[in-house]
Amino acid sequence: MVEHETSAELEPIPQPPTKPIVGNLFDVDRGAPLEDIVRLANEYRPIFRLSLGSREAVFVSGFELVDELCDMRRFDKLVGRGLTEVRAFAGDGLFTSHTEEPNWQKAHRILLPAFSQDAMRQYFPMMLDIAMQLVKKWERLNRGEATDVTPDMTRLTLDTIGLCGFNYRFNSFYRERPHPFVEAMTRCLSESMQRAGRLRIQERAAVREARQFDADVASMNELVDRIVKERRAEMERTGSDPRPDLLGRMLTGVDPQSGERLDDVNIRYQIITFLIAGHETTSGLLSFSLYLLLHHPEVLSRAYAEVDSVLGTESDVTPTYGQVHQLRYVSQILHETLRLYPTAPAFSVHPLEATAVIGGRYRLTRERGATIVTAALHRDPSVWGSDAGEFNPDHFSPEAAQQRPANAYKPFGNGQRACIGRQFALLEASLVLGLILQRLELVDHDHYELRIKETLTIKPDDFRIQVKKRAHLRALQGATA
Ligand code: HEM
Repeated sequence: MVEHETSAELEPIPQPPTKPIVGNLFDVDRGAPLEDIVRLANEYRPIFRLSLGSREAVFVSGFELVDELCDMRRFDKLVGRGLTEVRAFAGDGLFTSHTEEPNWQKAHRILLPAFSQDAMRQYFPMMLDIAMQLVKKWERLNRGEATDVTPDMTRLTLDTIGLCGFNYRFNSFYRERPHPFVEAMTRCLSESMQRAGRLRIQERAAVREARQFDADVASMNELVDRIVKERRAEMERTGSDPRPDLLGRMLTGVDPQSGERLDDVNIRYQIITFLIAGHETTSGLLSFSLYLLLHHPEVLSRAYAEVDSVLGTESDVTPTYGQVHQLRYVSQILHETLRLYPTAPAFSVHPLEATAVIGGRYRLTRERGATIVTAALHRDPSVWGSDAGEFNPDHFSPEAAQQRPANAYKPFGNGQRACIGRQFALLEASLVLGLILQRLELVDHDHYELRIKETLTIKPDDFRIQVKKRAHLRALQGATA
């Protein structure tokens, strides 16, 4: 069946002017394609296509077309070129598997309970442990000393998923350089993106890159295998119930439908997947939110007021799980940050049938699908209004959120393939932002102008700030000294 094709006139999908042979290859920077794609997506909203060497890609950024693409009865996740390259080290893990692969279904069912409200409550003390390491580091900076926000947020989020998911301490705050796993992973993600953009002949010439990639994959595997081995040894030694964390569930969980467990190779892929997906994006979210707060003093002071009223003004009191859920304005700030800077800036879908027509006139094929450019969808004035480009957390007031169509905001993807770690990320980010605001004043000593670094995710680059204890805490300290 060819859907919705009836009598409607089909139209070619708009395309920026092409050059002979290379098509639109030079319209996007291969090392950092997103900036160009978002620019084109805003210019050609709601849809455009690019000819990139031997392949065609379609990008959608208008709400109405996205709304159609989010209909799971017609469309499903497409593991596109970039993610296919990532399969070299994440295999058929949750993020990079095709929905019809048996391991996606199995792992989805086994791991879903690890993201329930009960599970979040269990992770909370561990999240707090790592969040305190960040805040202590920042509190101890000397006067006039700056810190590079994004690497610190990466330390925080990697250590949090490591501890909550696998009871493994990366101890990143005790290291000057990023943990070797992060270095290997960053290079692998970046190389995957490069590979997705290379012509076949260029790929054959990239020998040094291939060697480095293989070494990085081996070193990630080595760490993951060690984590599994240690847990298995612990289980044998103690003979106790397995921990109900991600690793415990992967090693012992049985799929209620098939009665099967995950095999060892798949467990390795899942761990790598969670270590990557569980920290890259949340780290960017926290970094962008601090950048935006520094540039919007009126939002910052509302956030301070909320934090003071919910968490209190004594610095040595740590937040409880219940209090973090009461930080509603902080949560609005995080959502507004993800609207303007969705740290996973795009995702792809394709028709369940061989072809599908969207908007009554654009034909998509199953093979090619379409990429939803979240970063541009989130600025579509038809749903976000004339201030779509402005940072305004009131976009997420309960009233505003209720009036808006659900598919106007997609930072966590769509449907059954949406982010399994969404609540984890939001809890962690609210806790960390709450703690920072409870204790610290942020100083933009450098008058930082935003530069974005792309891998498969986006983050502020070289964003340095100074911090000092908040005035009332300094006064308190002075009085007790
Ligand atoms: C702000 C933080 C986060 C953002 C913006 C984000 C975004 C996304 C998006 C857009 C997808 C769908 C990708 C696609 O359709 O191709 C996704 C999937 C996924 N995310 Fe997240 N994510 C975040 C945090 C996390 C965390 C903390 C975890 C784990 C603890 C996680 C684990 C995953 C996994 C495993 C998938 C694949 C789910 C599946 O297909 O079954 N993410 N995420």
